[in-house]
Amino acid sequence: MTTTTRHTLVLGGRGKTGRRVAQRLTAMGQPTRIGSRAGQPPFDWEDASTWAPVLDGADAVYISYYPDVAAPGAVEIVGAFARLAVSRDVPRLVLLSGRGEAAAEQAEQAVRESGAALTVVRSTWFAQNFSEDYMLDDVLRGEVVLPASDTPEPFVDADDIADVAVAALTDDRHVREVYELTGPRPLTFAEAVAEIAHATGRDVRYVPVSIEEYTTAAIAQGVPGEVVELLAYLFGEVLDGRNSHVTDGVSRALGRAPKDFADYARDAAASGAWDVPVGTGVDR
Ligand SMILES: NC(=O)c1ccc[n+]([C@@H]2O[C@H](COP(=O)([O-])OP(=O)(O)OC[C@H]3O[C@@H](n4cnc5c(N)ncnc54)[C@H](OP(=O)(O)O)[C@@H]3O)[C@@H](O)[C@H]2O)c1
Repeated sequence: MTTTTRHTLVLGGRGKTGRRVAQRLTAMGQPTRIGSRAGQPPFDWEDASTWAPVLDGADAVYISYYPDVAAPGAVEIVGAFARLAVSRDVPRLVLLSGRGEAAAEQAEQAVRESGAALTVVRSTWFAQNFSEDYMLDDVLRGEVVLPASDTPEPFVDADDIADVAVAALTDDRHVREVYELTGPRPLTFAEAVAEIAHATGRDVRYVPVSIEEYTTAAIAQGVPGEVVELLAYLFGEVLDGRNSHVTDGVSRALGRAPKDFADYARDAAASGAWDVPVGTGVDR
């Protein structure tokens, strides 16, 4: 008789949260498969024929959808994936969702309606957007140009998101929970950038622009139209103060406080995330 060790499937397992989830599971000795277009077998949200092979042998799935769970089409795609997972006897799903976004909540509902044993990890803006995503280049240049006004946002650390996701993937007590995750204090983007300047010892400034200036510049730089639309939605609609208050999601899930942005900035600076690459001409 052959026995197969069942694994946890981590979609987006090379991304900001998925990478951290996969690292934690592996460190716990939990067999883990990364869902990636470069995986073997490959996984591609845009090609539904790749979904069943990665589900083979899985007992739980971390779902981080790309590009964004609030993007057009996400509800249908994530819902179809969840129905396939449940039909293949993989009902244990942990969905990374977005806070204060009606479209993201529709995606959560589509997954719920599949009959999945679901935990929703509904996150606010990641701190790591400054060090691992679209704000990184601006930080390196010393000017973070955004249409973010002075609305405070309690940025959450991706390490906290991963800790909650791993708890949910490995402990059934989290089934049916919706964890709304924030950091411990709201900061405006100007204050967040000032924390980064302090941690790096470099001159990094926040430069506010209008949504129109921002989208026009992004289009001129060749940012794809759907990404520009998404950023306009996130900055123009979602960042209206609805998400400014802190929540208890991290402590409810983990029994400890979330990480503060100043600690994130200190750790990211120490890791070299904001070291300016030699020869780029942006060394300050
Ligand atoms: N950023 C925020 O502040 C924020 C806040 C709340 C919620 N969220 C949600 O977080 C989710 C993204 O999670 P994340 O930031 O951890 O991920 P991420 O860093 O954006 O990366 C996810 C991975 O997606 C993969 N990918 C790209 N195109 C793909 C495709 N066609 N099929 C399959 N995989 C593809 C890439 O991996 P490969 O190259 O290996 O395929 C990439 O490593 C989104 O759904 C978003 O709504 C984000």
